[in-house]
Order: sequence, then C-alpha cells, then structure tokens
Amino acid sequence: MRLSRCGISNSFISAGSSGTKNYPEKLTFRVFITCLVAAFGGLIFGYDLGISGGVTSMDPFLNKFFPEVYEKENNVKASDNQYCKFDSQTLFTSSLYLAALVASVLASTVTRVFGRRITMISGGVLFLAGAGLNAFAEHVWMLIVGRMLLGFGIGCANQSVPIYVSEVAPYKYRGALNMMFQLAITIGIFVANVLNYIFAKMENGEGWRYSLGFAGVPAIMIIIGAIFLPDSPSSLIERGLDEKAKNELIKIRGTTDIEEEFGDLVAARESSKAVKHPWTSLLNRQYRPQLTFAIAIPFFQQLTGMNVIVFYAPVLFKTIGFGATASLMFAMITGGCNAIATLVSIFTVDKFGRRTLFLEGGIQMFICQIVITIAIACKFGLDGNPRILPKWYAIVVVCGICMYVAGFAWSWGPLRWLVPSEIFPLEVRSAAQSINVSVNMIFTFAIAQIFTAMLCHMKFGLFIFFACFVIVMSTFIYKFLPETKGVPIEEMHVVWQTHPYWKKFVKPDDVRPISDEC
Ligand code: BGC
Repeated sequence: MRLSRCGISNSFISAGSSGTKNYPEKLTFRVFITCLVAAFGGLIFGYDLGISGGVTSMDPFLNKFFPEVYEKENNVKASDNQYCKFDSQTLFTSSLYLAALVASVLASTVTRVFGRRITMISGGVLFLAGAGLNAFAEHVWMLIVGRMLLGFGIGCANQSVPIYVSEVAPYKYRGALNMMFQLAITIGIFVANVLNYIFAKMENGEGWRYSLGFAGVPAIMIIIGAIFLPDSPSSLIERGLDEKAKNELIKIRGTTDIEEEFGDLVAARESSKAVKHPWTSLLNRQYRPQLTFAIAIPFFQQLTGMNVIVFYAPVLFKTIGFGATASLMFAMITGGCNAIATLVSIFTVDKFGRRTLFLEGGIQMFICQIVITIAIACKFGLDGNPRILPKWYAIVVVCGICMYVAGFAWSWGPLRWLVPSEIFPLEVRSAAQSINVSVNMIFTFAIAQIFTAMLCHMKFGLFIFFACFVIVMSTFIYKFLPETKGVPIEEMHVVWQTHPYWKKFVKPDDVRPISDEC
C-alpha cells in the first residue's frame, strides 16, 4: 500500500482495503432534513428548466421583449416552412447555463473554504435576486441579468447540495437519496409547467411575471433550510474543526459509535492533503475510467435530446400544430410523466441494476424517436408545409413523446447523477465532479442555443440525429460500464479491475493514490 510510506494513518489504509465497513446506518431525523434541503436544491434547478420554454411561448412576453420574434411567429402563413418559424431568440433560455458553469467552478472554492452551507445560502440568495429581477423586468437587459443571477444560484446549489448529501447520508441510503435530487428536479419542472399553464391564461397579459417570479419560492425554501442546517462533518474536519465534527457525527448518526467513520474522515482529509493537484492526478492512468465517465455521462445525457422537450415542449407542440393553450397543457403532461417515471427508477434501480435501466431506457427512447420522426414527417414533409391529418395523429405524437420522456426519466435522468457519484474515489472526487457538472452545463447551453436552428435545418430528421446518439451511448454503456449495484463505494476499484476493458488501466496496486509528494 503505497501511501503508508507517506505516513497516512492505518485506519485509512484499512478503509481502502478491507471493504467490511462498520458505519452506523440509521436514517435519523437530522439526515432526513438534509434530504429535504437537497430536494430544494433540485427544485430550483428544475423550476428553471421548466419555466423558460413556457414563458417564451407566451405572446405578451414575446411581444414586449422580442417583438421581431413575435412578428415572425405570427406572420407565418400556413403555407410557410413551419420548421423555421421559431428560429430566433434563444439567448433568454441559454444565458443561464453559461452563468451556472462559471458559478459551479467558483463555488467549489467557497464550498471547500467556507463550507457547504454558505454556498447553499449564497445560491438561494442569488436565485432569489434573479427571480425578483425577472418578475419586474421592463427591459431585455433586466431579463438577461436576472437569468444570469438564477444561473449563479443554480451553479452554487448544484455544487454544494449533492456534496453535502453524500457526506451526511448513511452509506446504505446514499443511492436513494441521490435519486431524490433528480426527483426534485422533475418536480420543479412539473410545477413550472403547471404554473405556466395557469398564468398563460391571465387576461392582463402579465402571467409571465408570475411564472418567473414564483422561482423565488424554492429559493426562499433553500435559504431557510440551509440557515438551519448543521455543517457536514467532512467539511468541519476539512476546516480543522475536528471536535465539532465529532459531535455533529454523533448527532446525525444517532449513536456514539462513530469512531471508525470519524477516523476514516480524518484520514480522508490527510489523503486529500497528500494529493496536492487532484486535477492533474485525474489524468493518471489509474483514473482513466472515472475521467471517461465524468465526461461521457453528462455529454451523452444531453445528447438524448431530452432538453429539447424540457425547454421547447410548448414550442414543439405548437410547431406540430396544437394551439397555444393545448401546447402548454401537453407540456404539463410530459412534465408529469417525467416525475412519475423517475419514481419508478428510485424503486427499481437497486433491484435491476444500473445497466439494465440504462439499456432499457435507451431502447425505449430510440423506438419513440423513430415514431416521433415519422409523425412529424407525415405532417410537414420536407417543405415544412402542414398537411391535414386525422385526430389519431395528435394522439400518436403525444404518446410517443410521453413514452420517450418516461424512457429518459428512469434511465439517463437519475443515473446521470447516481453513477458518477458512486465511481469517483475521494482523492479526485471534487475535481471529477466539477468536470461532470461543467460538461453538463456546456451541453445544456449548446442544446438550448442551437435547437431552433437545428429544427429549421434538420427538419423531421432532428430526432433521427438524437436517435443515432442513443444507439452510440447505449453501446457505450453495454461495452464499458460495469454494474455498480450493491458495490460499496470503497470497493468500487474491484469492478474496474475485473472489467474486460478497464482492467488494463486499473491494477490491484492502484487501490490508493500515490501522493504527489511521494
Ligand atoms: C438534466 C437536465 C434535464 C432534466 C430532465 C437532469 O438530470 O441534467 O438537463 O433537463 O434531467 O428531467
């Protein structure tokens, strides 16, 4: 064990090699509260994901801030190319993701130096400010600055909340708690869809203000929640507050039998001190699988095309030929499918495993994408001129989209957060997590930015484009992702060492990091 040469404690060495942990596993009330706060973090992200598409399909909003877009949409004749009528103005939706990308990188330092709570509170405050600015916006700059504040808030929350939860959660419940984060995202999206539907009907044309302003509610929830939360033991230890950490560990575990876990946390701090440059260490051969998945999983998740539905469902339904109210209603239905199907995943992931859900979800999404493509091709052909089709056409489109959303929601939706959180070893966890979140934000931004142009140029082939990626990502999972179900995090190295491909990179000697100073 190479670290022993560098004076790392025995408890740490045995932690990495024994695999038989004896940590307390009770789910106490204190831990349960942390789940709720995690859920608030997911809610602000989800609410924002869900609100922008609906708001940009509200005519009074478009007319006030983007009159040229409003003109273009409303002057489209039935004979014009329908694929291109929305090809403009996406900065409103996508500006947020660049801000979130910057914030998640900056927040990693705040999280480390000042603790997770401060980052959560800052996230809530920034998000609240953004919601206020958007709700009272009179000019486009107020909208964009407001969205950037929301983005900063999301970046802070996404950086700190998942870390906080995995630090305080008893290991037995880590999987379920992790998926609750995605569940909260989907609930946020759904609530946003419902509110858009309600507020779009307001006769004074100011409904968009309410849709945007309601973002303040989850922000206040996260601020209040985080104010009352204790700091996590790991964070306290990281900042040298060992006694306080010990007391906190006793409280959240509901027992005084915490010596083994406490020892491992202290040892983990020593280990992360020994690895001075986690970013460069991550490039070491032994971390090749983790680095690969840190990039590939969020990249592929965005290439499923799910955010086309999340952001643009109302626009898409309008393009396909539904009226404005019906489009918002169908967006709401797809939002409901997303949340319910995520629940299915929570209850099945530890039974059927990650690979099964990934592969089943992939096949389901692929079939639905083909159905949606055929339906859009029948309606608009290559020229984009709508044809009159019977009623069953609308039913096929809505069912196809709902089945597609469900396929995503019990596979790439929650597994995108769960799998990385299980496979990153402690010494490179924060660096790998930053890459993971950043790749997510970059591609969320890219899809939001170019979707309407893609629809205009690729026409009904848009969904074929995403379907091809679904084949690639499913093959990738089939060949390269080992099953991680039921494997303790500290034993995860075994799955790489026994994998036909990754065993070339991860050797039994690599179980513990080589300190930069050794
Ligand atoms: C993704 C989002 C997506 C959402 C849909 C999340 O895991 O990161 O980009 O909109 O799932 O439920």
